[in-house]
Amino acid sequence: MRRKLFAANWKMNLTPAEGRTLIAALRADLDRDAAALARDRDVLVAPPFLAIPAAAQALAGSAVALGAQNMYFEPKGAFTGEVSAEMLRFFGVSYVIVGHSERRHIFKEDDETVGRRAAAVATARMTPILCVGETATERDAGRTLEVVLRQLEIGLSQFPARDAANVVIAYEPVWAIGTGRTATPEQAQTIHGALREALNERLGHDTGAAIRILYGGSVTADNVDTLMAKPDIDGALVGGASLKADSFARIVRAKSA
Ligand code: PGA
Repeated sequence: MRRKLFAANWKMNLTPAEGRTLIAALRADLDRDAAALARDRDVLVAPPFLAIPAAAQALAGSAVALGAQNMYFEPKGAFTGEVSAEMLRFFGVSYVIVGHSERRHIFKEDDETVGRRAAAVATARMTPILCVGETATERDAGRTLEVVLRQLEIGLSQFPARDAANVVIAYEPVWAIGTGRTATPEQAQTIHGALREALNERLGHDTGAAIRILYGGSVTADNVDTLMAKPDIDGALVGGASLKADSFARIVRAKSA
């Protein structure tokens, strides 16, 4: 049985002080049924880099893990504006999102460097959340599977085999991110099923069955249950609805199938 994973991606929102307040409210809410939640699901928050130290303090002693929204693959050096694995680990970061569509489309990261990031995260003993997803134009042209399978293939091409079961995949259709237009559970399951098959083929069935595939794109308290009812949807990567403690806590409490 795969444990569900609910990840809050704050994007470029919240100051350290605001982040601390949000985490305190989230902890208070989730603590009400902490033991039940801990049985079958994991939770993480991924603040902007500058809020990570405050978030680490606010999360001390909590079951909620700390994530980062990106990371560079080189260990150190002349890479202005970048952040390394060691810097993130210093604050107890254990998950790193790589290849988010905003990184790919706004900041021009490509499949190859996303793959290097994923590998570097795993080598540093953290868990990468590798994002894949098609644009509206690609979907309309019938190219969804081709695009997400290419992103998966190249994204994992440099991944250390011994860590393969530890990767997390996030399917986030670009047209669903921040638009209020969620993929239907059926649309999402079709892609998640295809991703699972590709993972099985590439890594073997045992490893493929262990890897968590999250859905992301306008997930809310109202649509999370029907999404999570699908067999290959193992959690959610949540943007907008993770910025309020009560809505994210409700998402974390999604009914699991
Ligand atoms: P959204 O963002 O929930 O605001 O659509 C999801 C994401 O981009 O990770």
